[in-house]
Amino acid sequence: MDDTFDLPLEADLADRREPAALRKKLFIKSYGCQMNAYDAQRMSDLLVDFDETQLLTEADLVILNTCHIREKAAEKIFSELGKVRAAKRARRANGRDMKIVVAGCVAQAEGEEILRRQSAVDIVVGPQNYHRLPELLRRSDESRIVDTDFAIEDKFDHLAKPAPGKTRERGVCAFVTVQEGCDKFCTFCVVPYTRGAEFSRPVAKILAEVEDLAKEGVKEISLLGQNVNAYHGEGPDGRPWSLARLCARLAEVPGIVRLRYTTSHPNDMDEALIAAHRDLPALMPYLHLPVQAGSDKVLAAMNRKHGRDAYLDIIARLRAARPDIALSSDFIVGFPGESEADFEATLDLVRRIGFASAFSFKYSPRPGTPGAEMPDQVEEKVKRARLAQLQALLEEQRQAFNNSMIGKTFSVLFEKKGRHPDQIAGRSPYLQSVQVTAPDGLIGAVLPVEIVAAGSNSLFGRLCAAEAGTGA
Ligand code: SAH
Ligand code: SF4
Ligand code: F3S
Repeated sequence: MDDTFDLPLEADLADRREPAALRKKLFIKSYGCQMNAYDAQRMSDLLVDFDETQLLTEADLVILNTCHIREKAAEKIFSELGKVRAAKRARRANGRDMKIVVAGCVAQAEGEEILRRQSAVDIVVGPQNYHRLPELLRRSDESRIVDTDFAIEDKFDHLAKPAPGKTRERGVCAFVTVQEGCDKFCTFCVVPYTRGAEFSRPVAKILAEVEDLAKEGVKEISLLGQNVNAYHGEGPDGRPWSLARLCARLAEVPGIVRLRYTTSHPNDMDEALIAAHRDLPALMPYLHLPVQAGSDKVLAAMNRKHGRDAYLDIIARLRAARPDIALSSDFIVGFPGESEADFEATLDLVRRIGFASAFSFKYSPRPGTPGAEMPDQVEEKVKRARLAQLQALLEEQRQAFNNSMIGKTFSVLFEKKGRHPDQIAGRSPYLQSVQVTAPDGLIGAVLPVEIVAAGSNSLFGRLCAAEAGTGA
């Protein structure tokens, strides 16, 4: 959930001479959640005439895949667009063009307004319409375009497979969207408006996508959805399958050794899914389960539709099913009406559970959501102080969790070269980065590693055996 990266921009754009490339170049950048990252890969796959570049200045096409979740994320896009416009002007001065596309959730929410605020933008396309990009690009030679009406057709039926070699370049961990949209309408959240109604992809299509990824060396799949555990896609038997059943089927795909899913809502954490954490070795013992707040009053005002005890009960059942499960969550501080006592209830819930990691945010009133209209908005300085206090506690818990790994042995899926030339880096079952001295040839392997030290952002380990193990 990174809203803060800057676009790379050469100091002197006008001096840059383009290489005589035969194929066109695409610069695509995603903000926001993992689903946006997945969508960016699908857009890149669709645009078969383009090769990706990391250099804005040499791009024929720039796509900013935007996030609307908080004000800061949404406003960031307009400053980013200023930089892209400068690059476009510099290219035009050299007789080359650059098309600029704004995709993602800001596109959906702001539509025409983006064209008004930034004259260099050619196309605005929402998250449910990006399968039309090739056609929109052709049409954009004549006029600027906004395409944000929710498409009637299923965009997933119109997406392209990755070009040969692309999946391998992307690495051994892959995202697959299985569910999209949200019908829950939490009072702070824009997602039901930007992503539309809840929709689950059929099992057969997901299975085919996962099998293709596995054939290209992917070992770990993260199933994505705004409410992924509300998944109820059509199974091969014509009946809806739950996420638990989908996970069990995907765990059988040869080559897939690890499964994760995100993001879940507590109310959809059913018995079958809890049992899957006990029964499926491929399902990693790490769950991101946003709770947002620890006070019943605030949870009700947020329309989360469950109380603190229900959340504590789910955690207890998960821990009974899978004692080594670790938890992560999202928190919002300073929701309208949140008193000091309400905030204390959040701290208390955090202390009771103990999180391995978490994201926490100051409440950001979003236009069109009920929260933005509520009385008793909390002052900025109170929000800031509460966030600092909560983050200090969560950071303490994260460090304690990382330190608790020292001396123990965990499976690590090796993903890439490490920080030093003789190291490779991978992830523990709990998504911690682990650095190990080992040859590159082990990238893609899952091996037992003894953790010997914990830094602030990585663990350091020693390889225990040379043969590949299972996921956990
Ligand atoms: N579908 C997920 C979360 C989607 S948004 C879920 O149901 O939990 C990711 C996180 O952003 C949320 O969990 C919430 O903590 C945070 N968030 C969403 N809207 C926000 C807002 N208006 N202000 C601050 N944080 C917000
Ligand atoms: Fe937003 Fe709530 Fe839906 Fe999550 S469940 S996407 S927080 S409305
Ligand atoms: Fe942001 Fe849209 Fe994801 S608002 S968090 S990119 S669903």
